[in-house]
Amino acid sequence: MFASLKSIGAYVPKNILTNQDLEKMVDTSDEWIKKRTGIEIRHIADKDEATSDLAYKAAKIAIKRAKIDKNEIDAIILATISPDYFCMPSTACLVADKLGITNVMAFDISAACSGFVYSLSIAKSFIESGLKKNVLVIGAEKLSSITNYHDRTTCVIFGDGAGAALISATENKEEAIMDVMASSDGKYADLLITPGGGSRYPTNEETLKNEMHFMKMAGNETFKIAVKTLTEDVIEILKRNHLTSDDVDRFIPHQANYRIIEYVRNKLDFPKERTVLTVAKYGNTSSASIPMAINDAYENGNLKYGDLMLLDTFGGGLTWGSALVKFAMKK
Ligand code: ACO
Repeated sequence: MFASLKSIGAYVPKNILTNQDLEKMVDTSDEWIKKRTGIEIRHIADKDEATSDLAYKAAKIAIKRAKIDKNEIDAIILATISPDYFCMPSTACLVADKLGITNVMAFDISAACSGFVYSLSIAKSFIESGLKKNVLVIGAEKLSSITNYHDRTTCVIFGDGAGAALISATENKEEAIMDVMASSDGKYADLLITPGGGSRYPTNEETLKNEMHFMKMAGNETFKIAVKTLTEDVIEILKRNHLTSDDVDRFIPHQANYRIIEYVRNKLDFPKERTVLTVAKYGNTSSASIPMAINDAYENGNLKYGDLMLLDTFGGGLTWGSALVKFAMKK
């Protein structure tokens, strides 16, 4: 039995935060943001819209496109670093309830921007072992809820959104998720961290005063490790599957920074036309970034049944991963 990506869906909140808006909030400029990140706009959820609301909307589209009965879904894995509630209940349980799916295994995973690729790895194992048949994998983030809009080193980068994919059992090897690699190195934990609110620094007046409940990032150090890791990851996954970049129809990297993507793309000789780029219009949406990019490619007619996608990701933890995935959604 093989695991196959049978459908994709995404949801982007309607509010737009432009570089010009950010110029009024912090000491930055449209020119700096575009030049250093490639980001032009990002979407921001409404005040009363939480991560599960974004996830639910993306999941509904993915389920509809998969043309399956929602009750056939036997697991929901949701990757996020901005859950509706701290600790519990999981956002996956809330999404199951919104979808009207009861009696289903549902849980969140925390791997920052690598969350979707990590979840694919779990879904693939569930299906190949015969434990599950249809796994709904979601990457969803309301990063605006943990972004400090007084900190110019982070607030220009992040946006909100959700992407969802249905991973189903198939006997057709041509539709299979061929391989997933996922890894981490906790010695770099401090480079990307939300220090307050956990058991290390439980929320109190001090943590709030020091704004420890917001994301903090050592951007430049992270950048250097990101380009190296993302490149090595792709070389390794292609090598162990006896493929070259010529065999890949769509290179779909995590959309963190245009310069990171360009570096990796050039190093690996991926032509621009075969690279999916959404960072300009969505910013960095962490675990939602890759499924949103897959959806974008599909909706723009740049992805068709049977195409081989190479996913490549990197994020807080530090975590990273890559995947070779056939796009198996039929019209
Ligand atoms: N506007 C204007 N100037 C700024 C801004 C801003 N928004 N932010 C920083 N600067 C300044 C800095 O203060 C610094 O000034 P100085 O030279 O006077 O000290 C200068 O610009 C250069 O700063 P750098 O941090 O070196 O800028 P860099 O080119 O590295 O770009 C960025 C910063 C965009 C954050 C980049 O490092 C990056 O993209 N890093 C990787 C992010 C990433 O991949 N994260 C992992 C995924 S995210 C997740 O998992 C949740």
